Amino acid sequence: MPEVWASVGHRSRMGKSVLTTGFSRVSGTMHCEGVSLERIALDAGTPAYVYSAATIRDRYARLDKTLASVPHRIHYTLKANSSRGVLEVLRALGSGVDVVSGGELYRALAAGFQPSDIIFGGVGKTERELAEALDANILFINAESEAEVRAIDRLAGERGIRARVSLRVNPEITLDTPHDYIKTGGRGHKFGIPHDDVVHVAEVAAGLGHIELIGLDMHIGSQLSRIDPYREGTERLASIFAELTKRGISTLEYLDIGGGLGVRYDTEQPPDLRRFAELVLPTVMETGLKLIMEPGRFIVGNAGVLLTRVLYRKHSGGRDFLITDAGMTELIRPSHYDAYHRIESVRPNGQSMTADVVGPICESGDFLALGREMDDAAAGDLLAVHDVGAYGYVMASNYNTRPRGAEVLVEGDRFAVVTQRERYEDLVHLEVVDPDWRTA
Ligand code: LLP
Repeated sequence: MPEVWASVGHRSRMGKSVLTTGFSRVSGTMHCEGVSLERIALDAGTPAYVYSAATIRDRYARLDKTLASVPHRIHYTLKANSSRGVLEVLRALGSGVDVVSGGELYRALAAGFQPSDIIFGGVGKTERELAEALDANILFINAESEAEVRAIDRLAGERGIRARVSLRVNPEITLDTPHDYIKTGGRGHKFGIPHDDVVHVAEVAAGLGHIELIGLDMHIGSQLSRIDPYREGTERLASIFAELTKRGISTLEYLDIGGGLGVRYDTEQPPDLRRFAELVLPTVMETGLKLIMEPGRFIVGNAGVLLTRVLYRKHSGGRDFLITDAGMTELIRPSHYDAYHRIESVRPNGQSMTADVVGPICESGDFLALGREMDDAAAGDLLAVHDVGAYGYVMASNYNTRPRGAEVLVEGDRFAVVTQRERYEDLVHLEVVDPDWRTA
């Protein structure tokens, strides 16, 4: 296995060592760990998402070490990447999970997580989903309103049990996320219980017969690079905790400070984990509560590339287009959030070009990059779109009736398809060919 990926990984343009990504060049050809991306494309076809298990382990270990001075547990958030292959890597590390739908709960249990490894969040859980969470006896549900707490109480009552519930607080913090759509903890957002109402809702919850109030939770946003919002939010949770203690509520065990840690896509400064430990953990320590974090992007974001082949190159209106077999259906982040994803040729020819990298979808908004200075490429060449391990495959769609691509996991010098490419039959299998018409 080449040493390069393990010891060096990706270096910034300044030559300064940055976090290892698991992707590097061996004799000019890009590899994931010890496997050439050309070999993977040959075997699995394109488009394909390729994940480095070593990178996932590295990120998990870094965060786990950061939190080491307080009792804690990492609950990896499935919404970032719920591939079974990825989940199994994390389960083996001892990770818990955070789910936001009945479907994710089902996936987590199917991948072998124990109910006590699972927490369930989300602003609009259905009665069926709440019932499934209660029946599975998961660690706790993060409730986002008084109405939801009452619904959980009723469902738990019907089952003759006490539901473990944590309250998601909207700490009302202004943030520096790169796009408005990934802010969540500001005043007037749909998420969580408004800061000023939390004590009241907690008292309601503590007074209900089938609720055991065991935690406070927040999630302030995604792709955060500054530590201050975490410090501020954690202090707000801690002061709510102190107020609840004063009012005689003594059942709390967990302080869940959400996910949101940013990663490097381009030149961003990823959050400084040492500062994070210095600024956030002392407050957690003072509460005596167990810390929970729900990271998604930080664990898997840098761990994956989207492998795509150039179908055509054309010149139009003074621009050079690379038309690839992946587009917004495989990676919606560039068109939806204006997100930047680095694109490289798997085997560059040494020249460069300015290209619009666009997909085959019948939409003008279907692009992976616009006006990008990048490796020169031609029809038939393979491109790697970087840092798609989070919010890549999970946000893929079948628009234009396109089968979703394969997911491939790499472990050193081995690789395996962990999610097969969809077949045409998969795309129509829910359709009722001979519908059962009923009269009104
Ligand atoms: N916990 C809660 C309650 C969340 O809503 C989220 C993400 C996370 C944890 C994990 O956040 P992370 O550590 O991955 O930042 N699709 C967008 C990101 C949406 C994030 C939604 N919530 C994107 O592609 O940038």
